Amino acid sequence: MKNVAWAVTGAGHYLAESVAAMGKISQKNRVCTFVSEAGEEVLRMYGLFDRLKEISGGGYLEEVFLEREEGSSSPKAGRFMMNKFDLLIVAPATANTVAKIVCGIADTLPTNAAALANKAAVPLYVLPTDVLERAETEPPFTIDRDLCLRCEACEPRAACPRGAIGEQIDLLRCDGCGICRGLCPQGAIRRGAISVASRPLDRENIERLGRIPGVTVLAGPEDIEGLVSSPQNGM
Ligand SMILES: Cc1cc2nc3c(=O)[nH]c(=O)nc-3n(C[C@H](O)[C@H](O)[C@H](O)COP(=O)(O)O)c2cc1C
Repeated sequence: MKNVAWAVTGAGHYLAESVAAMGKISQKNRVCTFVSEAGEEVLRMYGLFDRLKEISGGGYLEEVFLEREEGSSSPKAGRFMMNKFDLLIVAPATANTVAKIVCGIADTLPTNAAALANKAAVPLYVLPTDVLERAETEPPFTIDRDLCLRCEACEPRAACPRGAIGEQIDLLRCDGCGICRGLCPQGAIRRGAISVASRPLDRENIERLGRIPGVTVLAGPEDIEGLVSSPQNGM
């Protein structure tokens, strides 16, 4: 059994795949998560926050640490200095987090964890989202204004347990439960695929990240599972 530290940042791309990989790894290992403020918001929007709490059930080295609750100095990230973890996986990693790690900035829970892991020679694996010039990704639920008839008695609005539906969906309230989707007779609430561009700067940062000693850049979510069985990652 390994002690896996996992940092989740505010990326929708690769999020479902990362949480699925985390679930598999947690069947035979302890997984402790470090979630950025944006990561917490995006996990909720995609309806995955509760799943994360199931995976990191709360016991020692299986906690969910939220940046929002942890303070600016991220004391829990100090565990890397005490050799509590076999490896740190940052997945998914936003362009923002990648840029910060490359520049040595450690002002969020995931970037602080990455800095301390790197100082303590704990292997660091990063799954960046902005690898391709353009990538198809699934956004959170939105209202398609071309389909919405602005019914006075809007069933999705009445049924939303979070009161998140107005002219648009308030994504900071939405917890991704999806109840609304089945209730709109026009099918105006959806989660279609969108194409997102990355900047050359983001892709350059990923290359620079891969040149930092102790850091491995993962090509895709399918690379995550094998990490824990690798003999390289044991204490
Ligand atoms: C629904 C949603 C999805 C997002 N997906 C991505 C993404 O895939 N990649 C990315 O770099 N940023 C994405 N962002 C933007 C980041 O959340 C934002 O840059 C944030 O400041 C990152 O903070 P963090 O790196 O500390 O987690 C997304 C934002 C939202 C609202």
